[in-house]
Formats: sequence, structure tokens, C-alpha cells
Amino acid sequence: MHPLLAAAARPCPQLAAIPMALLVLSTGLTGCKGADADPIATPPPTWHEDIRPIVEETCMSCHTEDGGMTGIPLTTYEDYQAWAWPIANAVAAGTMPPWRAESDCNSYKNDFSLSPESVDTLVRWVNADTPEGDASKAAPTRIAWVPPTLARVDAELIMKEAFTPTKAPDDYRCFIMDWDETETTWMTGYNFKPGNTDVVHHVIPFIIPPDEADVYRALDDAEDGDGYPCFGGPGGNIDSLIEARWLGAWAPGGGATVMPEGYGLLIEPGSIMVMQVHYHVDANNTEFDQSSVEIQLEHTPLKTVQIQPWTEVSWVLGMGMEIPANTNDVSHTWSYTFESGAFRIHDATLHMHTMGQTASMVIRHADGSETCVIRHDEYDFNWQRSYQLEQPVEVTVGDTMELTCTWDNPTDQIVQWGDGTGDEMCLGVTMITWE
Ligand code: HEC
Repeated sequence: MHPLLAAAARPCPQLAAIPMALLVLSTGLTGCKGADADPIATPPPTWHEDIRPIVEETCMSCHTEDGGMTGIPLTTYEDYQAWAWPIANAVAAGTMPPWRAESDCNSYKNDFSLSPESVDTLVRWVNADTPEGDASKAAPTRIAWVPPTLARVDAELIMKEAFTPTKAPDDYRCFIMDWDETETTWMTGYNFKPGNTDVVHHVIPFIIPPDEADVYRALDDAEDGDGYPCFGGPGGNIDSLIEARWLGAWAPGGGATVMPEGYGLLIEPGSIMVMQVHYHVDANNTEFDQSSVEIQLEHTPLKTVQIQPWTEVSWVLGMGMEIPANTNDVSHTWSYTFESGAFRIHDATLHMHTMGQTASMVIRHADGSETCVIRHDEYDFNWQRSYQLEQPVEVTVGDTMELTCTWDNPTDQIVQWGDGTGDEMCLGVTMITWE
């Protein structure tokens, strides 16, 4: 529990107005500090002086005037007043903003998390009954965090047809998008554009090399409508799972992925992109989606970026990653010491399925020091995204990469690696360069 929430342990009339589900998700917030609360040494924060600048910067890029992708507009004082307790819950629990990389692990370019001080300020403001304060002392307007964008769009791959997801609450589907370039090209960035933010929850795009494309086309041909059902990966066989290049992961609020200057991802003509979309829908959904991916390209050779997945191969083959039935905190670690080939890690995504609880990727350097690349203390399948490192992590000969995943398995089945909703994975995906 957040220490400030712990201090607020009195029954609170406002709590009655909060939907139960929000309280269950919350930190165990059970009290409130109203106007008659114990005096606090410092005056409480106010909307004009303290709160507006924080939320302008960290909430309004997603919670726009019409609600945007969130369905919840949070732009005015009245909005924040009305949503005060859910907001205190969400920020204290760390579920909002939906940024899941721990800040003591590394620093990231696309970081839109709240500082611990800002969390304290928001919680104190709610505990003090959301004082508006004096408009004449208003803090300067802050600019909302803006997701990264592409410098130019050279191509756009779009779903062939609109798709209406119908499997409530979650419909996972892969769509094949043709790569029309007739020469070898270097992709220097891509930007996922959800067609319908009411239903698209998260997306993992894959590039499939030409000699594998038919495996995926066959999956598509076997299903009615555009695309085919898929969950953990793009489908295909085990070889193609390793061959398929994960481009990273996108969740609401994530922007474009841009390759380091002078580098590109080499793509052969005849490749395809498979875009795996997680739709989150109500029963009887009629909303359709036709999402697309914008691409930035170069035709002249660049140094190559590689999208490198890391995991234990025997896990993929069904050995050594057992998660026994009805167990919590089951952890498996894979580690590998590099005997040749220094490289640099630019971004990282950790992927598990819905039983995943925590995950981390650490480099133990030959000199005894270590670098945390990424760590999730509260992994959430629905909020997978690529985390772009502020400074690339250098990996040299003799260094060891360590990937650890932890799961809770509430089912009566032993769970192993697999593509299905009841299976699990433990995969680190990194963008690397080596020259
Ligand atoms: C990257 C986009 C994004 C940012 C930034 C963001 N939110 Fe959200 N928020 C969402 C989405 C999407 C939902 C809808 C629920 C869902 O999909 O889980 C949501 C839901 C909520 C809810 C409803 C209850 C809940 O916890 O799910 C609250 C309250 C909330 N956000 C508060 C905030 C506040 C306060 C901030 C800033 C400190 C913020 N959000 C920043 C995307 C965002």
C-alpha cells in the first residue's frame, strides 16, 4: 500500500460512489482524509498549482477531451474531481499511467511514467478533497508527453479487409500484410496505427522472410475472413516461431519505433508482415477495425539492425519450463555467456502470457558489474510494449545475459511453452546492432 494511503484509514463517504471493480483492483484503499483530517504540516496540493501540470504532462496524451483510446476524458478540473478516487487508486497501485518498466532498472526514451513525488502529490490532493486553489497562482501549462513519430512515411501496410472481432472478451487475430517492395530495403522505423481504438488493445508485428511466407498464407487461407486466430505468436511451426522476427510490441500510447541513426532492418522482397492484434471487446460487438502500419524505408544499404529474440531453445521444444498446476511464484531462468561477437541492445520487450507475474533481462558483465536492461515487477499481458533504452547497453565477449520469468498457475494443468491462451512463454526481444 502507498504510505500516504495507509495514513488515510477512516471510512470515506466518497468511496460508496466508486465501482467495486476499481476498489478490488486498488491498493486496498479503505479510508479518506476529508476536510476534518489531521492537519498536515505543508498545505495540500491544489489543482492550479500542483495537479494540472502533472496530469497535463502524463495523462492527457491518452485521456483526451473525447476520451480517445481510453474512453475516459481527463482534461478538466471537474473530470479529475469526478474521478479522484479511481485516480488515487490507479496511480498509487502503479496501474496508471500504463508504464511497466521499473525505473531503478534503466532509463528509457519513451518513458511516460509518473515520478514517485508526483504520485505522492496526486494522492495527497485526493486525500485533501481535491482543492482547486487559486487560478491566479496557476503553474505554467506543461506539454503532454508526445509519443515518438516517424520523420517520413514511405509505405503503409493496411489490413486487406475490415475485421469485426466477435470473441468476447478477447479476440486474438493475425493479419497478413504484403510487403510490396521489389528490392532489398532497410526499414528505419515503423508506426502502428490502430484503425479503431475502441477495440484494439495491443499489437505485436512480425516480419516473415520470403521462404516462410507460404506457411502463414496457408493459415490465413484456411480461415474465413481476413486473418486467422493466433495468440502467443504468429502461428506456423516451431522453426517459423524462431524465424519470425518480432518487431516489438505496441500498446495504447506507444508511438513509432525508430531505428538508431544509420541503421535499418534489412527486408527482402517477398517478405510479409504478420500483425498480431489483441482485440478487447464486449459480447455482441459490432465495431470493426482496419489497422495499418506506417513504414519508413531506405533503399541504399545501411548498417543492419537485428531484432533478436532470446530464450532457452529447449523450453520452446517443451522441456524445462514446466509451471506445475496450482502453484504461485514459479520462476525459470535462462542464461547465456557470449563467447564471441560484441553487440549493443537498443530496446527490449519481455513477453509472457496471462500467468506472467514478473520478468527481467540482466547483463552480468565479465568484470563483475551488471546492467539491468528491463524489469517488470508487475507484468501485464495487456500492456506489452517496447521499451527504448536511453543509452544502448553494450554486451561484450564474456558477458552473460540472464532472462528470468515468474508465473502463477491457478489451473489444474501443468503449463509449458506454447502458442495457446493456456500456454506460457518467456521471451526477451531486443533490437541490437553490432558494429
Ligand atoms: C498510454 C496511455 C495512457 C496514459 C498515459 C494514461 N492512461 Fe489512464 N487509461 C488508459 C486506458 C487505455 C484506459 C482504459 C482501461 C484499460 O484499457 O485498461 C485507462 C483507464 C484509466 C482509469 C480507469 C480506471 C483504471 O485504473 O483502469 C483511470 C482512473 C486512469 N486511466 C487514470 C489515469 C491517470 C490519472 C493518468 C496520468 C497519471 C493516466 N490514466 C495516464 C491509458 C492511459
